[in-house]
Amino acid sequence: MRILVTGGAGFIASHVADGFIAEGHEVAVLDNLSTGFRENVPEMAVFFEVDIRDAQAVDRVVSAFRPDVIDHHAAQMDVRKSLLDPVFDAQSNIVGSINVISSAHKHGVKKLIYISTGGAVYGEPSNLPVSEQHPIHPECAYGISKHTVEHYLELYRLLYGFRYTVLRYPNVFGPRQNPHGEAGVIAIFAGVLLEGRTPTIYGDGEQLRDYVYVSDVVRANILALEAGDGEIMNIGSGAGTSVNTLFKELAQLADFRDPANYAPPRTGEIQAIYLDAARAASILGWKTEVRLADGLRKTWDWCRAVREKTLASA
Ligand SMILES: NC(=O)c1ccc[n+]([C@@H]2O[C@H](COP(=O)([O-])OP(=O)(O)OC[C@H]3O[C@@H](n4cnc5c(N)ncnc54)[C@H](O)[C@@H]3O)[C@@H](O)[C@H]2O)c1
Repeated sequence: MRILVTGGAGFIASHVADGFIAEGHEVAVLDNLSTGFRENVPEMAVFFEVDIRDAQAVDRVVSAFRPDVIDHHAAQMDVRKSLLDPVFDAQSNIVGSINVISSAHKHGVKKLIYISTGGAVYGEPSNLPVSEQHPIHPECAYGISKHTVEHYLELYRLLYGFRYTVLRYPNVFGPRQNPHGEAGVIAIFAGVLLEGRTPTIYGDGEQLRDYVYVSDVVRANILALEAGDGEIMNIGSGAGTSVNTLFKELAQLADFRDPANYAPPRTGEIQAIYLDAARAASILGWKTEVRLADGLRKTWDWCRAVREKTLASA
């Protein structure tokens, strides 16, 4: 298959692009390099430096590459930035996505896989783990913008028979991860511990999140190439992990013996969320395979290797 991966210079989608290539697919990456890096783009992928807010540029790429599938990850993914600048967030995540969807429709793209967020569309959940039946109640502009696109996809399905699958991601972590993303705490703690400093935990550290290693979400994208048409699915482990536990695990890997620093909680932070992925299990045959401890070790090893390389070249 020919697959266009938007956001493929970023953390998650660069792994997804690697995964598609390993499966024998022909891949192109579209990214404006705002938070992504050219070196994350797989060597075997064609690269288009394009902003999804530019409808004509997106259309030129889709018309030139003629993908069978578009895997759409490109987004403004910083929750705090979405609150400071909701217009930019909406332009990137809503208008940008409409540009991608309408171009896919115009050029007869057979399917679009859209990456939404399970961490930001439900708000503070009334029951856990959260299934797709839980009311949508975003508490940040990012959650609103990511969810809005799901409606456009359904509209295109109703009007034109457009094929799509929505994956609502949990807190994804792993090599190349961005400290500003939804699982940024792992990259931040690893970075601080590698410098021998003490990480700061906001609040009591008992906030629960659903951390899933990046190779597991790559598999969900590969499975969605062939299944899940017109479906919206949570991707998650079904278990919550506290920030205190993350700190403990990473401190052990770093051989760091001091307690963490604690600071007042951040306003507007959800206390506990983790996702029920039963739909993804029955529709895609997907479930997590990498244990949290194994994923943390791989991420730690990667962060350490990057730091050593940076120090050696300084
Ligand atoms: N990291 C998580 O835990 C998490 C959780 C839920 C959902 N998601 C979603 O997964 C996707 C990837 O997130 P990530 O964590 O890898 O972030 P990332 O910032 O590493 O990747 C996003 C990529 O999109 C590109 N991009 C941003 N705006 C663009 C634009 N206007 N035009 C073209 N390219 C643009 C960036 O340069 C970057 O390469 C996003 O859609 C995000 O909302 C991530």
